[in-house]
Amino acid sequence: MKIIQVKDYDALSERACSFLVERINELENPVLGLATGSTPEGLYKQIIKKYNQGEVSFQEVKTFNLDEYVGIEKTDPNSYYYFMKDKLFDHINISLDNVRIPNGVAPDLQQECEEYEEAIQAAGGIDIQVLGIGANGHIGFNEPGTPFTCRTQVANLETSTIEANSRFFHSIEEVPTQAISMGIETIMESKEILLLISGENKAEALATLLTCDVTEEIPASVLKKHPNVTIIADEAAYSVMNQL
Ligand code: PGA
Repeated sequence: MKIIQVKDYDALSERACSFLVERINELENPVLGLATGSTPEGLYKQIIKKYNQGEVSFQEVKTFNLDEYVGIEKTDPNSYYYFMKDKLFDHINISLDNVRIPNGVAPDLQQECEEYEEAIQAAGGIDIQVLGIGANGHIGFNEPGTPFTCRTQVANLETSTIEANSRFFHSIEEVPTQAISMGIETIMESKEILLLISGENKAEALATLLTCDVTEEIPASVLKKHPNVTIIADEAAYSVMNQL
């Protein structure tokens, strides 16, 4: 894993943006894997800026998101579909026909997962997957203990994840307990992975990731087996690692 250390969240967002824009401009038909959550918000703001400056186009870009809550409609402000439209898609020249996010209210969730996998394959696979990390080491909603062989599936959220995500909801009871998540094996098939880690609340997770063996108890540790991973982490995220 290649690691780029930057000063703070703004620097992380800018670095991640240059990284992604460079890839989009290099590839003929880029297929991006995207993430939601607080971490990539700054990246999306930077991408919009670059788009407005004419430095990148999304005309030929296809995207697949990592996950979506089960039971939340697309139109719900808490859905990841809404998040992506609001934070990125509505502000760039991407066709909504080229963006795919699991449908958390599909009548048959199992079938939705299978179709999601097929759509990724049909697009030729993901060229570059953006990831965040949970404080518990999860990637996507693949919680500790998830087999590395799992593909897109309905995942149960850990209590700590429900608590962490409750900041976006009126009450913790409103947070869904399940999500459709791209599987670990699916993520590992991406040709390249960009993992973003920011803030003191992720410092323990980063230190664990950098020092642990590869184990299903720390889902992100699987990335050590991927040939092309870049981590961008800020100083706050490094605070525990620096003390080791
Ligand atoms: P965050 O979430 O970016 O909101 O911290 C990351 C994650 O839980 O994977």
